[in-house]
Amino acid sequence: MSPLIQPSKRGTHLTPDPRARVCEDDDDSQVLLQRSSSLCRRQSRPSHRNIMGKVEGQGESWHGHVTAVTVAPEYRRQQLAKKLMNLLEDISDNIDKAFFVDLFVRASNAPAIKMYEKLGYVIYRRVLRYYSGEEDGLDMRKALSRDVEKKSIIPLKRPVTPDELEYD
Ligand SMILES: CC(C)(COP(=O)(O)OP(=O)(O)OC[C@H]1O[C@@H](n2cnc3c(N)ncnc32)[C@H](O)[C@@H]1OP(=O)(O)O)[C@@H](O)C(=O)NCCC(=O)NCCS
Repeated sequence: MSPLIQPSKRGTHLTPDPRARVCEDDDDSQVLLQRSSSLCRRQSRPSHRNIMGKVEGQGESWHGHVTAVTVAPEYRRQQLAKKLMNLLEDISDNIDKAFFVDLFVRASNAPAIKMYEKLGYVIYRRVLRYYSGEEDGLDMRKALSRDVEKKSIIPLKRPVTPDELEYD
C-alpha cells in the first residue's frame, strides 16, 4: 500500500496527506483520488472491480478524472462499474467540489462508451491518435452540480490533437 494511503474504514474519509483520499463503499469497493497527476497509484489489494482517479485542473477546469475502471469478465453486467463511477462522481461533486468528471476512452470501445452514455456522459471532444499515435480517443464529460450552466460539457466543434490537451 502506498505510504500516502492510510487504512480506511467503511465510508468516505480524508487521510492525513491532503493529496490522497481512499474511500470504500458498503460493498468494499475502493476509490482512490489524488490531487496530482504524477501521484496516481492503485490500491494493492486485488479486487474483481477497480476504479482509479484523481482531481486536477485550475479554476472552472477543476475536475475529477477517471484514470481507469475495470470489472473482471465474470462479474460484468452486474452494475459494478456503475456503482464505482457513481462513487467517484459523488466524491468529486460533494467533497472536491469539482465542476465535472472526465475520462478518455478508445473510440472503438463500444461497451464502455455505451456505459458512459447511460451514466450521463457526453462526448466533449475527439482526440486524434490519442492511443499510441494510432487510435482516436474520446474525451467524455459529465457536469457536476457546481457547473450550474453546464458549460463544461458543451462539445468542441472540431477534433483536437494530443499536444493541444491541457495537462494540469
Ligand atoms: C466497461 C466495463 C467497466 C463495464 O463494467 P460492468 O460492471 O459490466 O458495467 P455495469 O454492469 O455497471 O453496466 C452499466 C450499464 O452500462 C452499459 N453496458 C455495460 N457493459 C455493456 C456492454 N458490454 N454492452 C452494452 N452496454 C453495456 C449497460 O447499459 C449497463 O446497464 P444494464 O446492464 O442495465 O444494461 C467492463 O466491461 C470492463 O471492465 N471492460 C474492460 C475495461 C474497459 O474497457 N474499461 C473502460 C476503459 S475507458
